Amino acid sequence: MDTYWMEFAGMLVRWLHVIAGIAWIGSSFYFIWLDNSLDPPAPGSDNAKKGVGGELWAVHGGGFYNPQKYAVAPASLPEKLHWFKWEAYTTWLSGTALLVMVYWLRAGAMMVDPNVAPLTAVQAVLIGAASMIGSWFAYDLLCRSPLGRHNAWLGFVVFVLGIALTWGLTLWLGGRAAYIHVGSCIGTIMAGNVFFVIIPGQKRMVTAMRAGKLPDPRDGQRAKQRSVHNNYFTLPVLFIMVSNHSAATYAHPHNWAVLALIGTAGVLIRHFFNLRHKGKLRWEYPLAGAALLVFTAWWTAPRVQALPPVQGEVTFNRVREIVGQRCVSCHSPAPTFPGITVPQGGVLLHTPSDILQNAQRTYQQVIVTRIMPLGNATLMTEEERAVIAAWVKAGAKVEP
Ligand code: HEC
Repeated sequence: MDTYWMEFAGMLVRWLHVIAGIAWIGSSFYFIWLDNSLDPPAPGSDNAKKGVGGELWAVHGGGFYNPQKYAVAPASLPEKLHWFKWEAYTTWLSGTALLVMVYWLRAGAMMVDPNVAPLTAVQAVLIGAASMIGSWFAYDLLCRSPLGRHNAWLGFVVFVLGIALTWGLTLWLGGRAAYIHVGSCIGTIMAGNVFFVIIPGQKRMVTAMRAGKLPDPRDGQRAKQRSVHNNYFTLPVLFIMVSNHSAATYAHPHNWAVLALIGTAGVLIRHFFNLRHKGKLRWEYPLAGAALLVFTAWWTAPRVQALPPVQGEVTFNRVREIVGQRCVSCHSPAPTFPGITVPQGGVLLHTPSDILQNAQRTYQQVIVTRIMPLGNATLMTEEERAVIAAWVKAGAKVEP
């Protein structure tokens, strides 16, 4: 497809993905809040006799709401029952479409990093796809195993395996792609929980009740366990989805550990809110989360790597030649790098004035974060980086 149409379609899918994600995560936050905020009805009251296990009062948008949760189920079900599933499915479908459009179809540039592992584009895509499918099966098996009866231990094991997955992916894929695939794995688990466990369980409960039978309480418990997991996944997964704006995280030499720290902070902060809804203010959790984030900020702060001394004079012509050789293939109006068809990141470097205008950004990308050339696909040498660094430090001028 023509690149412009592809980009435009990508923008629409991204928009949809954000909207569906807000609807899904918003309802996850709402229902966990609701569940944690319920108070049992007075013993002997009408509601208690009806089988209501908890209720609350809320005011919103100029109206008063009085949701009630039944301990297992009401005596009879109304015809009209609201389900919450399309938010999850739409989020997963649009997210996977975006993953394919942005990463898989351009895997050579977006997923393979020769400094990480010498993969072909097809191998990188296979690793990405296998990680998503494999993590669902591993997670689902764990939940169904005897470990699934011990919520705290299960949570701990899932968390450790998530870090192991992150580490494994960073051994094969470039940092950005590794991060986004960890996010896709978590997103797949979350959507799988809705599609394979929560909704089928609820359907069985409804079918049993419509047939006048008592629903199996295990279906309710299982759905609850998965929905609590989904709730704890939200903050880490949201971080991952915006992380590709933050090279300090995914391009760090220990990017997997950076993600583990930020993910842990997210879980701790989420836990604080979940306890708070139950009326327990436990500030140690967000404080520990904040401490992890402060540590991460310090740890990932750019430290410019030592460069070899520059031989000879640093002239603009030398800089121009290096940029022409190492950068222009992706940063010109008509890029020549395989698979690349538009100037990347909107940055042009093919004329002297473009090089001058982008001198500071180039310094940031080439010397400080070292993200450019992307995956060092054009094999820039340390000596060449030293020339660029010396030229920018001397004021980035055309004449020496
Ligand atoms: C293999 C392709 C490729 C090569 C070679 C390459 N780049 Fe890039 N560049 C990219 C991509 C992709 C982006 C967009 C990254 C993003 O959106 O975060 C980018 C973005 C940038 C940006 C903007 C980053 C920002 O967020 O401000 C700068 C500056 C840049 N490149 C400079 C360079 C320089 C200088 C070189 C040569 C030393 C170079 N690039 C070589 C692919 C490449």
